[in-house]
Order: sequence, then structure tokens, then C-alpha cells
Amino acid sequence: NSPLKVAVLGCGSVGSQVVRLLGEQADDLAARVGAPVQLAGVAVRRLDAPREVDVPAELLTTDAAALVARDDIDLVIEVIGGIEPARSLILSALENGASVVTANKALLAEDGPTLFEAAEKAGRDLYYEAAVAGAIPILRPLRESLAGDKVTRVLGIVNGTTNFILDKMDTQGSGFADALEEAQALGYAEADPTADVEGFDAAAKAAILASLAFHSRVTAADVHREGITDVTAADVRSAREMGSVVKLLAIAELVPSADPAEDAGVSVRVHPAMIPRSHPLASVREAYNAVFVESEAAGQLMFYGPGAGGSPTASAVLGDLVTVARNHRQGTRGVGESAYADRAVLPMGET
Ligand code: HSE
Repeated sequence: NSPLKVAVLGCGSVGSQVVRLLGEQADDLAARVGAPVQLAGVAVRRLDAPREVDVPAELLTTDAAALVARDDIDLVIEVIGGIEPARSLILSALENGASVVTANKALLAEDGPTLFEAAEKAGRDLYYEAAVAGAIPILRPLRESLAGDKVTRVLGIVNGTTNFILDKMDTQGSGFADALEEAQALGYAEADPTADVEGFDAAAKAAILASLAFHSRVTAADVHREGITDVTAADVRSAREMGSVVKLLAIAELVPSADPAEDAGVSVRVHPAMIPRSHPLASVREAYNAVFVESEAAGQLMFYGPGAGGSPTASAVLGDLVTVARNHRQGTRGVGESAYADRAVLPMGET
């Protein structure tokens, strides 16, 4: 069987782990896919930058646009992050006939529909399990396993950096700045940690979760957002004295309309919240994430695991790679998006 040729865009903490796993798991991947999976190129910003993995020099390029324009590439893995040039590169990859796996939550939350439409038009796959909650399989369950149920609420700790900071403040009495520095050193934080501590990262993930859970189109701009920069040591202490813990929560809810003839709306918000220590979300420590889902038929479900960091995020990327590679081999196409209904996204005051 002819090999599946893969291009990786970005070789930072996630990209380097993707490249490592592609090498280390080559035999298993080939067996699972039914054809060898071949790394065909890695686009980086600087050829001489230190990186966590050895990449053969002939595979490295600084010209990502030329890499995605190659007509022999079957799959492009985008792990650069941010809006541009990631969006143009993904669109170009799809137009050139490649499928795409991305971990780019900011881009999906801002402009997902453009990407989904481009994938549809090109007849190619677009998968993004790694964009929300790192290694935790949560998007596939919402899109597929729960597709016959009616999800009513999603409650998540979806940012590892802020959970790490709040956990250190709670358990070790650490200061905010020290805890943030530690999270950055461990590779959890975004390049600009403002995205973490101000709640932008969690808001992007909340928009993606809400879109899949409620078969609607929710963008980051629809999410009411408050970060953790105003949470003080005194707040954390007094929560502790009350038997609670402060967590940054992403909350997405289906809100029934007052008029029974009308569809329910969706409310999505991210803010620090006090949670009783007896609640399962209170036990989510360090940079772990958890997503608590309530649905009509299934009841309550909790998904828990490492939500940030190169290797866990790469695990989710590789899972998508196998799905796309299998589709490719069978000449089929998966649906990365959830068919959507035009639900109203409610402003905060109405919930
Ligand atoms: N900065 C993100 C976090 C990385 O801390 O959760 C994973 O998306």
C-alpha cells in the first residue's frame, strides 16, 4: 500500500511530540492504518532553533506555504496555533487536496465555519480533537457517542495553566506570578500567557464544546469571559475556609425558551467559580482538565485527563491522524463538524 504522506506545521512543544510519536510508533501506526505513515516535511520558523526532537535536515523547511502546496501531501497537521498564518495554510492545504488535523482552538473558535466549509468543498477531512482539553477524548464523544442523546449542560475545567495556578495557590499558598512561571516552564501555557489567565483560551474551548454539544455555531465572541487575574490569595483562602475551591469554569447550557414553540437557546460563559470540595471537579489538580456533561438520557458523564502539554496533546493529534488515514485508505470522508441547528446564543442577562 502506498504510504500516507504527512506534513507537520510547527515544531514547538506539541509538534515535536507529534514528530517523535510518528517515528516511535511507525510500525503500530502502519498496522492500524493499513499503510506506512511517512513524515514528508516539517515547517519551522527557524532551521537552527533548539527543539525537543531530532528532525532530519532534509525534512525541515521554513516555507510552510510551499510545503502545503505540494501535491504529494495527504495530510497536514497544523500545530502552529494562532489565527494567521495558520488559517491560510489550512485553507491552502484543503484546496490542494490534503486533509487537515489541527490543535488550533483559537482559530476554530474564531472562524471554524470557514474551515468546515472549505473541507466540505474540497471533500477532505478536518479533525481537531486536540484543540480542547489536550489528551481527553471529548469532541468525538460529543459529536458521535452522544449524537442520539440531548446534551443539556457542559461544565469544564479546560485550561491547564489556570488550573495549575489556582491549585498551587490553594494547596501551597503560592503567589500568582510564581505559579504562572512554573506552568510556563512545564510547557502548559500559551506563547502569550494572557490567553490563559484572562480566559481567552478557555473561552475558545467553550465555544468549540458548545458548538458540538448543542449542534450550533458558537464563536469565541459569543462567550462571556472573565479570567483569574483578579483572584487573590485571600479569595482562595476564604473559599478553603468555606469548604470550597476556586476553579476557572467553562459553562455551556441549553436554555429553554419561554415560548414552547421556539427552540432553546445556548448560553456560554467562562469565569472563576467556587466549587464545594465534594464536587468531582474540585479534585482536578495541577494542569489536569475535566469536562462534566449532563444529558437527558445518559445523565451525568465526566471526562478527565491531562489537558495541556506536548505529549498529551500529541496523543490526541495522532488519534485524529489514524482516523483520517483510515478514511483516506477507504476513500471515505468523516464529518469533523456536528451538523448544526441555528440556535440563538443568548446574552448573559437572559440566562
Ligand atoms: N495553554 C493551554 C492550557 C494549553 O493551559 O490549557 C492547552 O490547550
